[in-house]
Amino acid sequence: MRITPKEVLFFETWFEDYTGNFKQLNPSLPNGYALKSNHTQNVCIEMNALGKSLMLDSYQLRIAHIIALFHDIGRFEQFRKYNSFADKKTENHALLGVKVLKKYKVLDNLQPEAKSIIIKAIQLHNVKNPPKIKDKTLALFVNLIRDADKLDIFSLASHHYQNSKESNSAIELELPNTDDFSEDICQQLINGINVDFVLMKSLNDFKLIQLGWVFDISFNYSLLKILNCGYIDGIASTLPNKPSIHKVIHHVHHYIAERLNLQN
Ligand SMILES: [Fe+2]
Repeated sequence: MRITPKEVLFFETWFEDYTGNFKQLNPSLPNGYALKSNHTQNVCIEMNALGKSLMLDSYQLRIAHIIALFHDIGRFEQFRKYNSFADKKTENHALLGVKVLKKYKVLDNLQPEAKSIIIKAIQLHNVKNPPKIKDKTLALFVNLIRDADKLDIFSLASHHYQNSKESNSAIELELPNTDDFSEDICQQLINGINVDFVLMKSLNDFKLIQLGWVFDISFNYSLLKILNCGYIDGIASTLPNKPSIHKVIHHVHHYIAERLNLQN
């Protein structure tokens, strides 16, 4: 099976044309279009590097690229419709993206197997606790997009928390930036329990949950990048100086060190 460079170019051109329509919006969110457009570009770059590190063949790399290109296509319609990126308050952007791709028949010229993998990987890219996937090929692409997406969000978030004086509701999920944090979230992270998202009330809670994303990372390549780029310490440096938060940070570092066989 193959996907030609010409087909990839068609998808890239479609993405530019479709998302270009949203540039003209005048939203209350700052640079909503640019944020998601840049995120998509970065996820494509992360995806390609990750795929190459795993020695994927050119067919697999192209499938991975198309998934990365379209994984957040629903963000643009979400933004137009609701002026918000908060799925909780609006709708699931992954499912919305799949609706957009189907509406415009974007993937219809691909072979059914490739189309099905791309659709399912997009559907599962943002699922909090994804189901165990039996199909190894699908599992590979779901894990790839989930890692590549997190790598860019880690970069964006850690940079934003450390450097930006202004709030950005798209990154901060419209959560209040106070000194509050949930001791229960800390405890769940330390105990290796899936965090109950009902507990997320403040920006600090979201930062803690983001630190816990490392437990959901599939490939050691991604973990090493997260460590080497200083994303954990970057986010950690903006959290309150409290014993339970130190425990979470230590636990996260310990987990990464063990997975990568590093000396603690
Ligand atoms: Fe997404």
